[in-house]
Parts: sequence; C-alpha cells; structure tokens
Amino acid sequence: MTGALLWMCLIVLVFPTNTQRDTSHSTVAGRVAADPPANIKVTDSGHLGHMTIEWSQPSSIQNLTDCTVRYQLRFYDTYAGRWKSVRTLRLSYAAQFDLEKPIQVRMLTLLKGACTNGTEILGEEVKFEHTPKHSGISGSRIRDFRCVYFNKEHMDCTWEQGNVMPLSSEHYLYYWHREMQAPQECPQYIVSPEDRMGCRFLPHTLVEFSEFNVCVNGSSAAGPLRPAYFSLEVQNHVQPARVSQLQVAFQDGLVQARWEPPAGHIPEQCLEYELETSRESNDGRMWQWTNETEETTSGFLWEDMDGRICFRVRSKVNGYCADDGFWSDWSTATCMPGTPQDMPETGIETVKDKPWWNGLALLGMLVIVLVFVFLLILWMLRKMWMNRKEDKHVLYPLYQEKVQKAVYPVFVSLFQ
Ligand SMILES: *[C@@H]1O[C@H](CO)[C@@H](O)[C@H](O)[C@H]1NC(C)=O
Ligand SMILES: *[C@@H]1O[C@H](CO)[C@@H](O)[C@H](O)[C@H]1NC(C)=O
Ligand SMILES: *[C@@H]1O[C@H](CO)[C@@H](O)[C@H](O)[C@H]1NC(C)=O
Repeated sequence: MTGALLWMCLIVLVFPTNTQRDTSHSTVAGRVAADPPANIKVTDSGHLGHMTIEWSQPSSIQNLTDCTVRYQLRFYDTYAGRWKSVRTLRLSYAAQFDLEKPIQVRMLTLLKGACTNGTEILGEEVKFEHTPKHSGISGSRIRDFRCVYFNKEHMDCTWEQGNVMPLSSEHYLYYWHREMQAPQECPQYIVSPEDRMGCRFLPHTLVEFSEFNVCVNGSSAAGPLRPAYFSLEVQNHVQPARVSQLQVAFQDGLVQARWEPPAGHIPEQCLEYELETSRESNDGRMWQWTNETEETTSGFLWEDMDGRICFRVRSKVNGYCADDGFWSDWSTATCMPGTPQDMPETGIETVKDKPWWNGLALLGMLVIVLVFVFLLILWMLRKMWMNRKEDKHVLYPLYQEKVQKAVYPVFVSLFQ
C-alpha cells in the first residue's frame, strides 16, 4: 500500500517536470520555430536526370533577425545506391537522379544565432517523393549499356536490344553534360545490319570529372520504346591501348622486362601495369605469376637460366587519375631466350615449340657447313689438278728440248 502511494507520488512528481520541460521547449519553439521548408519541388530542365530541387523559406521565420537559416537535404542517390546529405544556405540544389526510379528527398530547417541563444535548433524532417512516369512499350528498354573510352581517342557506348522489339524499331541516343545548353543527339551512330547498336563520341564532345548523362530511347510502328537513362563520368571508362614495345634483357643474372607506355593522350603518370611472367624449366615444370607496378620495368634474379621465361603486360588508368577503368588487351609475349616473330598469345605454347625450332636451325646450319666444306674441297682439288697441268705445260717443252737436243744429232748422224 505504502509502495503504491510512493509510486503515485513519484508519477505526480515526474509528470509536472516533464510538462515543464515541454513548455520551455514550446516557448523556444513559439519564439523561433524551425519549421520545415515549404513548397518543395523537383524541376526537370531536360538534362536527362540532372534535376533541380527547389523550396522556399518557411513563413514563420521570415521576420527573424540575427539568425542563420540553413537547410539540410538528404536524397537517395540511385547511381551510388545510398543516401547523400548536404547542408545549404540557398533555396535550391542540383543533383543527379535516375529518371527510371523514384526521386526521394528529405528536408529540414536548421536555425542558429542570437535568436536561439547560440544553440542549433533542428526542425522536423519532411519527405518528398516524385516518381517519373514510365512511358514506352514495356520490355523494349535496351540492355547491357556499356561505354569504353579507348585510349582517350574515342568513346564507344554500345547496347543490346530490349527483349521486346516491335516492327520498324529505331533507337536514338541523346547526351548532355554541364557545358551544353540542351541535350544533343549522338554525333555518330554505330550500326548493325538491323539497328543502331551504339554511339561513338570524339574527345571534343566529352567533359571529364563531371556527369555525362545519356538517354537511349526509340520509336517503332507500335509506339515509343521505353527510354533508358545513364549517368557516368567519362574518366572512369578509359581503356589504354595495348603495350607494343615490350623488351626483355638479361644481364648479370638479372632478367628484366622493359616496356613503353602506350602512345596517346593518357599521361604516363596516370598508368599502372600488370606484368605476367610464365616460366618453364627444362624438365617441363611451369609457373605463372603476375605483379602490378607503376614502373615501366620489372626484373628478378634468374641465376640458373634454366628453361625459358615469357612476359606479357597490360595497362590501366591508376587511382590517381580515375576511380575506375578497363584493362588494355595483353601485349604479345616476349620470351627469353629468343622470340620467333609470329609468336602466339601465350608464351607456354612457344616453349613447347622450342626443340622443333632449334632442331631445324641446327640442321640448316649443318647442311650449310657441309655444303661449304664440300665446295672448299672441290675448289682445292681443282686447284691441285690445275697446278699439275701447269707443271706439265712447263716441263713438256723442257723435256722436248732436252730429248731433241740429245736425239736429233743421233738421228741426223744416222741418216748422213
Ligand atoms: C512579417 O512582417 C511583416 C511586416 O513587418 C508582416 O506583415 C508579416 O505578417 C510578418 N510575418 C510573420 C510570419 O510574422
Ligand atoms: C537566452 O538566454 C537568456 C539569458 O542568458 C534568457 O533570458 C533568454 O530567455 C534565452 N532565450 C531563449 C530563446 O532561450
Ligand atoms: C528521346 O529523348 C530525347 C531527349 O529527351 C527527346 O528529345 C526525344 O523526343 C525522345 N525521342 C523519343 C522517340 O522518345
């Protein structure tokens, strides 16, 4: 009984204090209420997803002096897949949205200054949602959209047709970036026999480190096709050209691969490399390993010089110059010892070809040497024979002379 009474007293005591606190809060709110921003709207200026969120100041704080009014804005970034927060003094904010997905925005007002005795007041958060209406024949949206900025020479964006392709369908690509007034159509379509399958952009039509927005829509006999929207940053789609100058040298037990950065517009300090080394020992055992480097040379000790070593290299834009990129194609393999000119892609196959190549070369050398020796012998024989003949030529007159000298008088005396 006493316990229950005590509890009741406590509740009675607690309630007034709570109410008091509430009252004090509402006093502050009554004087300075951080009401949420009014008239929130998202305007599409036709920039393919680059939208402007606008709002107006709540009327309750219009006459406030000595107060800093800020707005906190949170929106769901559909490309990054997470919520993003910003605080601003302004009454608008531009952000990138995927027009194929709902636009979700949350906003609140922040007050700080003399009007709040220096403490910051956060208002209540309000939600705003807008779902862009989906138009076009369902299932006709393109698939597997992909952009590759090859060696910064041209960017090819390609796609696959949608699952549904009504009669006489034709695709269009429109693009926009911050240096353009309005979207423009693809400068140069990549065409397959039936339809447009991509678009080629030359560097002067692109900007880096900024949104590059794309819309691929289409028309058909049955009506417009479902549009697809994309937003990318061009510098993250670079694929360097293949490394063409890969050389291997061997000195003082050190085997070293050395290459030149691919020629083009990508600065050398923006490239990283992957070097693949394949090694086969004379007894047929094989190893293969890769290492990544920002140098254009890599080497290791190879003291026993047993078997054969092959290298190939590929390159990619590094983390200092972009967040992402594509690996180039592999260079052709260069091997130690020796590299036939027309080597296949993998060094291992060539390693197997080695005895055949060496055998043939040896046989060829042997044949040449034999032919040479044979010719030499022939020449010597001929020379010897000639000499003997010459000797004969020299001796004969002498012999004739001597014989005639001796025989002639005898002969003459015989017939006299
Ligand atoms: C702000 O001040 C103007 C004139 O000074 C007045 O007409 C208006 O009603 C005031 N607004 C608020 C919300 O108090
Ligand atoms: C601000 O502080 C002063 C005294 O430090 C107090 O008199 C006044 O009521 C406070 N104002 C608010 C809005 O809390
Ligand atoms: C495709 O999109 C562009 C840019 O928004 C627009 O101007 C054009 O009319 C659209 N075409 C079709 C067939 O929907």
